Amino acid sequence: MEKLGRNEPCWCGSGKKYKKCHEEFDNKIEEFEVMGHEVPDHSIIKTPAQIEAIKESCKINIAVLDEVAAKIHAGMTTQEIDDIVYKKTTEMGGIPATLNYEGYPKSVCTSINEVVCHGIPSDDVVLKDGDIVNVDCSTILNGYFSDSSRMFCIGDVSEEKRKLVEVTKEAVELGLKEVKPWGFLGDMGEAVHEHAVKNGYSVVRQIGGHGVGLEFHEDPWVGYCSKRGEDMLLVPGMIFTIEPMINMGTDKIFQDENDGWTIYTADKKPSAQWEIMVLVTEDGAEVLSY
Ligand code: MF3
Ligand code: CO
Repeated sequence: MEKLGRNEPCWCGSGKKYKKCHEEFDNKIEEFEVMGHEVPDHSIIKTPAQIEAIKESCKINIAVLDEVAAKIHAGMTTQEIDDIVYKKTTEMGGIPATLNYEGYPKSVCTSINEVVCHGIPSDDVVLKDGDIVNVDCSTILNGYFSDSSRMFCIGDVSEEKRKLVEVTKEAVELGLKEVKPWGFLGDMGEAVHEHAVKNGYSVVRQIGGHGVGLEFHEDPWVGYCSKRGEDMLLVPGMIFTIEPMINMGTDKIFQDENDGWTIYTADKKPSAQWEIMVLVTEDGAEVLSY
């Protein structure tokens, strides 16, 4: 972490002298670093002004997912979901963050049944009665990023798949309860993992959540196979996603060789994912997008 003079203006943009602002905070972080913990640097600790701007982006992201929730139905194509997302996002002044992101061609990811994540919307893919589908939405507004996803059960979904969707949501909620300043990402990760395994499911190891806000994907990488007291220290002003992919069968996955994006379960059993975007506050956590 860079060292500031005690009388220099604080890095957080408050205009106050460093010694009257974040010096004590930085010293506390340094104590954790000395103890051997992974700690955040200033670049991923958001200032109050940045948090406000990120929240504006989140408002669009939530509204877009609400719009999808109102319109999703059996018989529609995933391209139609993409059209809804593009239209609503741009009408509200935003840009879909996935569009042209590292060559990704669409405004949203739509991942059905055994598709774990990064399913590409298409005119050829029709939602059927009994499908479970993740719609993963991300928005840029004035350069600030938001990202969250929800599961939708289409028509008459089997008890087995419905339970997978429910347990995955509960896992995210249990993880969220663990998010607090001066705790660790691993507190959240272990809670998510415990709940999945207790229900006989597995958790995808290779793909995780991420810091978000000033960039689409920032540090830290957020896994769900970690242990309490491990992974990065959490401090007020950090924003990251909790977005576990929970599988009914094996945790093994593979990528579609043809499109280079779509991730499937190796055993073709169903997978579910919910994603929320969380701010670490002075006394706990605030969900910014869901
Ligand atoms: N919203 C996804 C995430 O959680 C986006 C993945 S990048 C994409 O990070 F290009 F595949 F969309
Ligand atoms: Co994400």
